[in-house]
Amino acid sequence: MSAKIIDGKQIAADIRAELKAEVANLKTKGIVPGIGVILVGADPASISYVTAKEKACEEIGIYSDDNRLPAETSEKDLLALVNKMNNDPKINGILVQLPLPKHIDEQKILLAIAPAKDVDGFHPVSVGKMCIGQKTFLPCTPHGVVQLLVRAGVKLDGAEVVIVGRSNIVGKPLANMLIQKSPTGNATVTVCHTRTKDIAYHTKRADIVIAAAGRPNTITADMVKPGVVIIDVGVNRIADATKKNGFRLVGDVDFEGLKEKASLITPVPGGVGPMTITMLLYNTVESAKMANGN
Ligand code: GUN
Repeated sequence: MSAKIIDGKQIAADIRAELKAEVANLKTKGIVPGIGVILVGADPASISYVTAKEKACEEIGIYSDDNRLPAETSEKDLLALVNKMNNDPKINGILVQLPLPKHIDEQKILLAIAPAKDVDGFHPVSVGKMCIGQKTFLPCTPHGVVQLLVRAGVKLDGAEVVIVGRSNIVGKPLANMLIQKSPTGNATVTVCHTRTKDIAYHTKRADIVIAAAGRPNTITADMVKPGVVIIDVGVNRIADATKKNGFRLVGDVDFEGLKEKASLITPVPGGVGPMTITMLLYNTVESAKMANGN
């Protein structure tokens, strides 16, 4: 079997076209969705994510307030900036790029973001509402994964899903979304992590394997059943002297081996990545609509 590739770029482009039309319509009513972006320090991967997020905002007509702060920025100054954005009516969403430098308490910053502007879906209020199935901002990467599965026509109802990775940003919220009693949930979910005794024991019986471990080659062809659906959330930089920037991106799965055994698989890049940014745009547009009473 040779797997069909789930084209995240195309699915993301379809959703972005819908959002662009929606933003144009909001502008006719005098509403311009706006996002405040904060990057502390100069981590190369974070710079590249933030730049891509801002470019995507511009493309669909979302105003973005770009704030690149030095690594030495104090927690107090960062809190003050978040507070300023909380009170700025032009800003509908606040994005503080993670990870933050060690001297800043990440949870304290996330807690300071007004839940009404929490377009990353990381505030405990958003997380709590998600857990009990209330309408809220859903975190972008797991929301993007669910949208990829739905739009690729993968049946979630009753599916055996194995997620490898238990981060607050991906594994935990994704498990939560997929077990919700809803048309985009209703799956049976197992979460594997670094202390799981035998990951292959779980992945071998999965209909859908979602790799979010942050390590290349975490999932190989011998660990899955034929016809499995593979979603690769990993973004790992591997040194590569043949590339101009000195590295190439690989995911968490052995793509070459798995594409011979899976029925559907996401590539890296061009799979989950474009969806993460797209769901951020979606949340920002939703927030602008809510701030204006619809
Ligand atoms: N760092 C890695 N992924 C994300 C994300 O989705 N949002 C933010 N704010 N930081 C991240």
